[in-house]
Amino acid sequence: MPAGVAGRPNLNPGMTRLVRADRLAAELGVSGELHVKDDSGNPTHSFKDRVVAIAVEAARAFGFTTLSCSSTGNLAGAVGAAAARAGLRSCVFIPHDLEQGKVVMAAVYGGDLVAIEGTYDDVNRFCSELIGDPAGEGWGFVNVNLRPYYAEGSKTLAYEICEQLGWRLPDQLVVPIASGSQLTKIDKGLRELIALGLVEEKPYRIFGAQAAGCSPVSQAFKAGHDIIRPVRPDTIAKSLAIGNPADGPYVLDIARRTGGAVEDVTDDEVVDAIRLLARTEGIFAETAGGVTVGVTRKLLKDGLLDPEATTVVLNTGDGLKTLDAVASGSRPTAVIRPDLAAFRAAGLA
Ligand SMILES: Cc1ncc(COP(=O)(O)O)c(C=O)c1O
Repeated sequence: MPAGVAGRPNLNPGMTRLVRADRLAAELGVSGELHVKDDSGNPTHSFKDRVVAIAVEAARAFGFTTLSCSSTGNLAGAVGAAAARAGLRSCVFIPHDLEQGKVVMAAVYGGDLVAIEGTYDDVNRFCSELIGDPAGEGWGFVNVNLRPYYAEGSKTLAYEICEQLGWRLPDQLVVPIASGSQLTKIDKGLRELIALGLVEEKPYRIFGAQAAGCSPVSQAFKAGHDIIRPVRPDTIAKSLAIGNPADGPYVLDIARRTGGAVEDVTDDEVVDAIRLLARTEGIFAETAGGVTVGVTRKLLKDGLLDPEATTVVLNTGDGLKTLDAVASGSRPTAVIRPDLAAFRAAGLA
């Protein structure tokens, strides 16, 4: 973190709720403690506000005048909002086919939003080219040329989880993967707390979660490979749709070193899991949260997660941004005239 930033306006992300999820635990056959770290409560409704808070300070320290990023949706909104609050210009880049909720969130803060005809990986490649071009001079791309700062922001998830558990390490964490940065920094944050003596050292296992339609890390893990073969994403979990994940090899290392795993679930399982979390705990997750809950269920079924351990599952984004995923099955139970007879006739009394 660059020095001398105290008192500067920021969006104050973090310290989101850790929800003890007993009803979800009962449904999943978990007898130990199950918690959901719900990062949908951040200022722009995803964990990306954490990483941007650090990157924006680095951008100021380096004298960048435009804040930018390549984004699968959530980051674009977080950058737009942080730039607005910091009084910086922003220009963010997204794939052209994102959910309306993500597009509106990225545009509403008044910066420039550019939709690229291609996948996230095309967007990211384009941004790398722009950094090397005079047109990109003075631009700080939070997840490209400011990536080392941006990435450190995810460590706060690890710090908060331990603090909210009463300065304890969880036994197991289930974390969604797009580029893999967040997962690697959660591991780093946990190791830092151990090194500082703030938590008692004990083994913990980190599990990664992907959607089957974009599962390059999961495929490599299951095949026992060290190298990630890029894929072309095809999934409703668009926020996780990175076909060539920059931190993928590090995720494989961490999953293997800690005794975890990387697993994936189909789009139908994602939708099912969004509904399960909403129905049992009153938490409306975006598709990325459906991926982690769905993978948690699968790992428990396969005996890879210990049902008696203390487990933390991450929900990194808000269901209001991916309404289409569940819209078709989320309609009024009945449409009636405003009188009691009609209500009785509907059979809901
Ligand atoms: C809601 C949500 N969860 C998780 C991730 C994964 O982040 P990472 O690229 O650090 O793996 C993203 C990335 O865009 C996201 O938007």
